[in-house]
Amino acid sequence: MGHDTYNSDWMGHDTYHCDWMGHDMHHCDWMGHDTCHCNWMRHYTGISAPRTLGKGGVPLPSPRLVSNVIHQSAVCNLQDNKLSAFAMQWGQNLAHDFIDTPTLQGIRNPINQATSFIDASFLYGADKETMDSLRLLKGGDNRIHVVPGLATIQIIFLREHNRIATFLGNINSHWDDETIFQETRKIVAAIVQHVVYMEYLPHILGPIIMKKYGLYSTPKGFNTVYNPTVDPTTANAFGAAAYRFGHTLIPGELILYNHLLLQKAIKIEHAFNRPTALMDDYGRGADNLCRWLFRDGAAKSDRFLEPGLRDNLFLDDDGDSFDLAAVNIQRGRDQGIPGYNAWREWCGLPVAVHFGSGPGGLVDLYPDAAMLLSKLYRNPDDIDLFTAGLSERHVLGGSVGPTFACIIGHQFKEWKQGDRFWYENMFSGSGFTLRTFCLLFIIFFILL
Ligand code: HEM
Repeated sequence: MGHDTYNSDWMGHDTYHCDWMGHDMHHCDWMGHDTCHCNWMRHYTGISAPRTLGKGGVPLPSPRLVSNVIHQSAVCNLQDNKLSAFAMQWGQNLAHDFIDTPTLQGIRNPINQATSFIDASFLYGADKETMDSLRLLKGGDNRIHVVPGLATIQIIFLREHNRIATFLGNINSHWDDETIFQETRKIVAAIVQHVVYMEYLPHILGPIIMKKYGLYSTPKGFNTVYNPTVDPTTANAFGAAAYRFGHTLIPGELILYNHLLLQKAIKIEHAFNRPTALMDDYGRGADNLCRWLFRDGAAKSDRFLEPGLRDNLFLDDDGDSFDLAAVNIQRGRDQGIPGYNAWREWCGLPVAVHFGSGPGGLVDLYPDAAMLLSKLYRNPDDIDLFTAGLSERHVLGGSVGPTFACIIGHQFKEWKQGDRFWYENMFSGSGFTLRTFCLLFIIFFILL
């Protein structure tokens, strides 16, 4: 592990996703040797295969039908009253930091091509080759142009990297380029970790879950939380369902505000994989998008996805498109993720034996959603995790319900405790030295 103290976790990339429910049965090799055999939840599904049938061998409803009934909204463009569009965009950017499952893979223990840690790999890449190409003006993640807001965040961090590198170079005239680059990278990764755990997650999970999973950073100084027995591998239920909660936050259109705040709206379906918005207004598109990300709200955090995502995802010239909600449901089934009740049990939450919303039923769901689900599924055990998770009432101060809060909280706890390079750790080599820590203080509080 110690051959390159800068490469926080390249060794962890290309590891398999793992499922916590399989922990005790098949220990994951989370050091990245491609040997993880996380046959998770065998005791629920019986066999290691995608989930196609519900209880009693009844076929599950088609993902598109579930999407039509549960995730289609009659009212569009409702804004969230708490989360900004930036929170949505940051969430997607973060997803690209820690997860990259090859599309169409569709197997139960898919390979994660990203590093399973929060380490600014969206900017620097997940391997040395990508990082070297970054210096040739490329992005660290090849999904950078899915929507132009992603490139906007990468531009912000690229500028921040250059700002810090200039500062470090000026005060360390004896440092060569490589040292400046790598020290800057460490600081940028620390900034990303700090923003995620102190600025972002509290709004998603609320204070009770934040405390329960020990997610807040310490107010001052070092805090060595590293625990070598913690497996930081990304779990399927997190990647294929719970963290996709962010898809409900995506607004139906993005707006460019120029410096006079004159607006130009672009429908989301016209922005997929089209970076032209960045070139708008004589190359000031990213700045103009930034104004939107900070000024306007995300789409309301609920069970509905905007039509641009649900009916027109990646719309092509032939009029063909995808439904993101249906893709998410199908992905969860392909990866054999157990149904809603299994996760309720895993989280220590009451399981439902009927579709009512009273005791013994779907107690955390909105009653209208519970009623609709009863028309789609035969048994509460069968409900897809993505669908039921999005239909829950939110935890106090958070933007997700208790089941997603449990899965997301658990995953972020493992990433924090299982990361030898966690920014609060005090280790020579992997953590910050006292000197770099002081520099970080100067950069944050004096130079900003
Ligand atoms: C801004 C617009 C967004 C678009 C167009 C988008 C689209 C997509 C698409 C097409 C996939 C692949 C689906 C599959 O084949 O399984 C995906 C995966 C995913 N998305 Fe999004 N997404 C967006 C925002 C977000 C946000 C805001 C979050 C979370 C806060 C998020 C979390 C995820 C996660 C965790 C995955 C799984 C990635 C993987 O396994 O590699 N996405 N998204």
